Amino acid sequence: MAEMKPSIMVIFGASGDLAHIKIFPALYSLWEDGFFPDNFFIVGFARTKMDDGIFRKTIFDSLNVNCRKKPIDEDEFSSFSKHVFYLTSKYDDDSSYHELGGFIASKAKEYNMPKNVLYYLSTPPSVYINVINGIENAKLTSDEYKGEGFSRIVIEKPFGYDYESAKKLNGKILSVFKEEEVYRIDHYLGKETVQNILAFRFANAIFEPIWNNKFIDHIQISALESIGVGFRAGYFDKAGIIRDMMQNHMMQLLSLVAIEPPPLPDADDLRNEKVKLLKSVRPLSLNDIKNYTVRGQYDRGIIGNKQVLSYKEEEGVPPDTLTETYAAMKLFIDNYRWAGVPFYLRSGKRLKIHKTEIAIFFKKLPYSLFAKIGIENIKQNSIIITIQPNEGIAINFGAKTPGFKLDIEPVNMVFNYKSSFKLSPPDAYERLIYDVIVGDQTLFARYDDMLIAWQLITSIINGWSKTGNPIFPDYEAGSFGPKEADSLINSDGRSWNN
Ligand code: BG6
Repeated sequence: MAEMKPSIMVIFGASGDLAHIKIFPALYSLWEDGFFPDNFFIVGFARTKMDDGIFRKTIFDSLNVNCRKKPIDEDEFSSFSKHVFYLTSKYDDDSSYHELGGFIASKAKEYNMPKNVLYYLSTPPSVYINVINGIENAKLTSDEYKGEGFSRIVIEKPFGYDYESAKKLNGKILSVFKEEEVYRIDHYLGKETVQNILAFRFANAIFEPIWNNKFIDHIQISALESIGVGFRAGYFDKAGIIRDMMQNHMMQLLSLVAIEPPPLPDADDLRNEKVKLLKSVRPLSLNDIKNYTVRGQYDRGIIGNKQVLSYKEEEGVPPDTLTETYAAMKLFIDNYRWAGVPFYLRSGKRLKIHKTEIAIFFKKLPYSLFAKIGIENIKQNSIIITIQPNEGIAINFGAKTPGFKLDIEPVNMVFNYKSSFKLSPPDAYERLIYDVIVGDQTLFARYDDMLIAWQLITSIINGWSKTGNPIFPDYEAGSFGPKEADSLINSDGRSWNN
């Protein structure tokens, strides 16, 4: 395993939800599992006035709710907390960054270590530019300041609002950091099951030969959630599901299931293949946007015996909002492997079930021997890769039912993470933070795959603005989404794998 060098992680937005729900639990678990190098420090940088003691206490409290190591042992935490500090700061004030620079320099001197610094942007996107300007103005990434050390930046989504703003933000980041220092988080890439897509495809001899348009009829990628927008309405209402899920997570899943084998399983080769793949996604004309995309918004409904509000009634959502909480689309990949194979993507909130999966449906039999003796409608073979929950892979095929009569019914051959490995997959953030610290970019988006994904998604957003206002709400909470999404796939003689 790669070695973690002594380093300092600066967390901008350290008093916020993301830091407490995801980042600190991941850091604490890594520390408890013995992954931290001797000299590893965490510096919280945020507006809330606090000292180190109060900051450490807020972390302790949130670990007890959010960390897989809970309940947290007080003595263990006390050793961990000696690595944690806090600076009350202002994002738009250069003096805060000078103070940060001084703090880093003094820690590096005290522990005789290089200034290896990981800048983690866990703030609202509205202050990303302020933070990057602050780092730049205080010259924290200059060779003169860094000396022998390295600097890396970790940036959370949303990375931009559309293609143009993503390009601008990217340009700003790359004026201060080099691409090999930039870690754009897409937490789906940290999920074991997502990483396993490549292992499944490229570490087995039996699947790859049939992974193409000769054998595959179509592929469905679904990220269905039964939760609503919770307390994130302020962010979500500006984003919609298209920016929240489609531009990032869904495009990454699409890439992994469809790319060509890279020469090496490393950051550059893998991301080169993703770029090639995304460039082959057929652009959608306005007509395609009308015919091949669907958007929806949830109405009131019942989920798990509980009556839930409509999206418009959620706290913080404007009552006349036209933001979509559901989207589905049909895409084609114009290359030799996938010509003619539709990829159906869908994602939505407040749906009947909670699951993320990739369903690969194989072509129907060229000729059915059993039709001659009256056995019709043998189900298509399929492979279902379940990203969550019940992480695993199922292969579905037809088998003879027991008995004297010849009959055929669908059965499953199932691999399940928990029963095969006797372990639950670790949290995605642990893996991603570990990779940032050791300097492995394989599981992070590169500027070009991120921008190509934005190009496609921006064309759909622009198309929607020309196709007239939707009539929302159009699906009941607790259903499988709007009827149009069913028609999108049913009109091709197929149906969603619900
Ligand atoms: C986030 C989105 O990126 O992913 C959320 O902003 C969504 O809206 C979440 O709920 C889903 O992630 P997971 O890991 O729960 O599938």
